Amino acid sequence: MRGTYFIQTWGCQMNEEDSEQMGLYLEQLGFRPSSGLEEAHVVLLNTCSVRKKPEDKAFSLLGELVPLKRRRPEMVIGVCGCMAQIRADEIKQRAPHVDFVVGTAQISEIPGLVEEAFQKRKFAKRLALPERKGAVVTDIPQRKVDRQTKLKAFVPIQYGCDKFCTYCIVPATRGRERSRATQDILAEVQMLVERGTREVTLLGQTVNSYGKNLAEGRVPFSQLLWRLSEIEGLRRIRYTSPYPRDFKSDLIETIRDCPAVMEHVHLPLQSGNNEMLQAMKRVYTQESFREIVHQLRAAVPGIGLTTDIIVGFPGESEEQFEETLAFVEEIEFDGAYMFIYSPRPGTPAADLPQLPYPVKQARLSRLAAAQDEISCRHNSEQAGKILEVLVEGRSPKDRTMAKGYSRDFRMVHFLAPDDLEDRTGRLAAVRAERGFRWGVQGQFLDWLE
Ligand code: 5AD
Ligand code: SF4
Repeated sequence: MRGTYFIQTWGCQMNEEDSEQMGLYLEQLGFRPSSGLEEAHVVLLNTCSVRKKPEDKAFSLLGELVPLKRRRPEMVIGVCGCMAQIRADEIKQRAPHVDFVVGTAQISEIPGLVEEAFQKRKFAKRLALPERKGAVVTDIPQRKVDRQTKLKAFVPIQYGCDKFCTYCIVPATRGRERSRATQDILAEVQMLVERGTREVTLLGQTVNSYGKNLAEGRVPFSQLLWRLSEIEGLRRIRYTSPYPRDFKSDLIETIRDCPAVMEHVHLPLQSGNNEMLQAMKRVYTQESFREIVHQLRAAVPGIGLTTDIIVGFPGESEEQFEETLAFVEEIEFDGAYMFIYSPRPGTPAADLPQLPYPVKQARLSRLAAAQDEISCRHNSEQAGKILEVLVEGRSPKDRTMAKGYSRDFRMVHFLAPDDLEDRTGRLAAVRAERGFRWGVQGQFLDWLE
């Protein structure tokens, strides 16, 4: 063993997945996870730029590292992820104790950068981003697959984004949309399943536009789902996040007919008002969104639906906000991530006149209160139903309880059966009894396998 490493991650599941890859690279160099930041030999910050807050947190942690690095100058500090991609110069200037900055498409450079940093202390950066559009993309990173058993695994199938919503920094931080070859995805999932994975979540910025510009020709997302579902032992497939306009009937039919695909869709709405959607450059309308929801609910009764919403986008009037609120009350999502609009320098919406923060804050509170009531009601309406739960183990908050998720992606808690430890990772039948905002409490009935 050469030393220890510590990785601090902010942001989305793609970042969590990248951090895991970084950890595997460092393990290959002979480093092991450290119990804390203080004693680590290598510290990586995997940053997020989607809103201002995670950027502030990264700079604040960099500040905390100043005295540590002074005490132990041999400590290697690297900044990776979305903020590294777009603020490398600012990071170098504000945090001269950083050894290297790595962009979102260069994480395979990390082992070399760590070695370099140990030998000669000179600031380094690797920021190249595949920018070509239209051509077949070949520079998809080679991935490492964990050797340990993982019940649920994230699998990136697409990187970058070509949509350019006017609030969003991701096209700048992650570059143009590119898909991984189907064979590579199938091989990775096969390997994961052989090592004990039972559920995969496919990741992509606009995951349902997967499959363009592949050397093998176009592979529709629904076809990828069908091919994955043939992998024996894979019980559940999820994906996040689809883009509403590209949500076509073949995908709806696949959710209905393909046994491994879970009955849950996370479909970001962002706003329920057409003028706002247009200002955000989201190319769908309230009406077309409603139509997708109707089709989904008609094809797959009881399907779980969750969403993302932004309040306080520049120019959003009280009436326009209330239209979003009314739409949320009409659609009745099972859950929603709700955000206050955060201006991202370099995006078109950041240059527009901004709403006062208290106005945005008040709208978020109203929307969240409405959604909480709906989530709680939907979960309560599960009472009496028998849910198929993929059992993950004990609940961290109450060790007498077991936890897992239902097929429509509700968190389910139930009194742990005696043989829980032997059976963790299997499917169980649980009768729902009570609903809460966070999910459902139920009673264990039987193991299903
Ligand atoms: N401000 C607030 N929320 C944002 N999101 C993306 N960009 C911003 C921003 N500038 C939200 C969107 C997206 C989710 C991942 O983050 O709702 O779906
Ligand atoms: Fe953060 Fe978005 Fe980048 Fe994910 S894609 S790391 S949420 S900015």
